[in-house]
Amino acid sequence: MRIGVLTSGGDCPGLNAVIRSVVHRAVVDHGDEVIGFHDGWKGLLECDYRKLDLEAVGGILARGGTILGSSRVQPAHLVGGVERARGHVADLGLDAIIPIGGEGTLKAANLLSEAGLPIVGVPKTIDNDIASTDVTFGFDTAVTVATEALDRLKTTAESHQRVLVVEVMGRHTGWIALHSGMAAGAHAVVVPERPFDIDELTTRVGERFEAGKRFAIVVVAEGAKPREGSMDFKTAGTDIYGHERFTGIANQLSVELERRLGKEARPVILGHVQRGGTPTAYDRVLATRFGWHAVEAAHRGEFGMLTALRGTEITMVPLARAVESLKTVPADRYAEAECVI
Ligand code: F6P
Repeated sequence: MRIGVLTSGGDCPGLNAVIRSVVHRAVVDHGDEVIGFHDGWKGLLECDYRKLDLEAVGGILARGGTILGSSRVQPAHLVGGVERARGHVADLGLDAIIPIGGEGTLKAANLLSEAGLPIVGVPKTIDNDIASTDVTFGFDTAVTVATEALDRLKTTAESHQRVLVVEVMGRHTGWIALHSGMAAGAHAVVVPERPFDIDELTTRVGERFEAGKRFAIVVVAEGAKPREGSMDFKTAGTDIYGHERFTGIANQLSVELERRLGKEARPVILGHVQRGGTPTAYDRVLATRFGWHAVEAAHRGEFGMLTALRGTEITMVPLARAVESLKTVPADRYAEAECVI
């Protein structure tokens, strides 16, 4: 079999573990040939690739980022993109393509699959918002990084009697905010799923100071927004791909809390540090299992499918279903967090 693998969209700790696993399972166990496309779909569209053998994937398990590079280029964004991809798959004699990516990548994968290309997807994102899998690799690492940062921020917040508004990633969903906030014992967690009321948030933080506490930590997901009419709020437009830009919610919120509470407040934006560096053991294991199962699905001819974690088992789910909706933080999970924060 000849398999093409690519990593597309925002990078994520664990991508290299999937690539390594695909190569080990395919090349060593099945005698396949594996090629890796550079910079996501762009590599497939421009026929830019390299052969991946055991040597190429040596020592990459613990490495963050992706040895193949990534980009946000999508076949559907380019005129004739799908046809070009189909042509290159035929020219290269590929029997399977394994794209590793998040929401946008999987939508593109589904489009190519519906156009007849042999696709087996692997979900990745630190945001943990892919509906058909219980967990995506990268999430555990991001939560670990954010939790460590929150633990550190508590000491400086206390020294200065400040409110620190800490912005974590999560464009559409608040999984990182929820988990890191719970793990670090934050004093408020604000997620995109529940537009916040600035009066309620101010009261919550204010009560802490009234009770004699010297500081407060508010964790806010980058996609969080105030309830309509609750406070002045500036959106930041879209980027060159039409994605909504970060609004700088931590900045806006810290200014407002400082004004209302009469306490020093500072924004802290963790940003891409959550995506960089070595994956946790959990993420390495999940990524490795996904790679193994993607190769097996390709050998069974199970295309148009996505690897997914259900409980402790890896299963295959239809790509078309996987891209229907995002996995948002449900009210009961938020309630569990609220009772301890
Ligand atoms: O990987 C997902 C994510 O981290 C989102 O939380 C965030 O909005 C986005 O990627 C930002 O990625 P980039 O700056 O690479 O476009």
